Amino acid sequence: MEVLTTIAAIRNFVMAARRQGKSIGLVPTMGYLHEGHLALARKAREQNDVVIMSIFVNPTQFGPGEDLECYPRDLERDQKLAAGAGVDAIFAPGAEEMYPPGYATYVQVEGLTEVLCGASRPGHFRGVATVVSKLFNIVQPDRAYFGLKDYQQAVVIKRLARDLNFPVDIITIPTVREADGLALSSRNKYLSPDERRWALALYRALNTGAALIRSGERRAAVVRDAMAQEILSRPRTRIDYVAVNDAETLEPLDEIRGRVLLALAAWVGETRLIDNMIVEVKD
Ligand code: PAF
Repeated sequence: MEVLTTIAAIRNFVMAARRQGKSIGLVPTMGYLHEGHLALARKAREQNDVVIMSIFVNPTQFGPGEDLECYPRDLERDQKLAAGAGVDAIFAPGAEEMYPPGYATYVQVEGLTEVLCGASRPGHFRGVATVVSKLFNIVQPDRAYFGLKDYQQAVVIKRLARDLNFPVDIITIPTVREADGLALSSRNKYLSPDERRWALALYRALNTGAALIRSGERRAAVVRDAMAQEILSRPRTRIDYVAVNDAETLEPLDEIRGRVLLALAAWVGETRLIDNMIVEVKD
């Protein structure tokens, strides 16, 4: 497996693969890989001749006071895990390679980015959309792979690819969870053993919401309140948002119908975690 740190080097790697008529799958990550990333890599391995993983802690998607500096990084460990999942090349550029002095161009997806995480992390999706657009231009993959734990991100990237005519299929895969339900996240590393236990409230809250809907509840406010109560029943938890929204438009619902996104973001201690679940309502 190759580890390439410059845009010129990854372009050469891609060109060589293209000359041999090979298809290319891209798995964009910020590193500190876990099973969720590896599931994306394995799916890419199944569907493409060549698999490229990008590992880049993208500064433009972090707001002031967020965890850019302390975001976990371990390229050596990531290399071993990526190789085991069948990755052919890692693209691991430095910040100056992606954003050289004088950098001034950003991609903004409107509407979809103004709710949920977009409302509480202003500028976050502008950074995501910008770096993903750059990665699509640099690698020019046939397919790109994203996890549904970041459901809003996946919706935003699908829209971005459609609106900007990137010739790439966006493939999403379900959230990978620990045996007890905690969604895998590189940020779980920040949790103390107690916080790790309290963090289970997020998955419980989603299940509480889903169970209420399945039992016939159609008032979104009632479902939101029940989910919030579940989270707040644990010590040192704070809610950022609890949402019952349309799964396509991401708009908040009053009355529950169709494909519904249950989504939440909460702090457990000092760590902000997100999770979500889709519920289909047939009536
Ligand atoms: O989901 C992530 O890890 C990041 O937001 C992404 C898509 C790699 C862009 O930096």
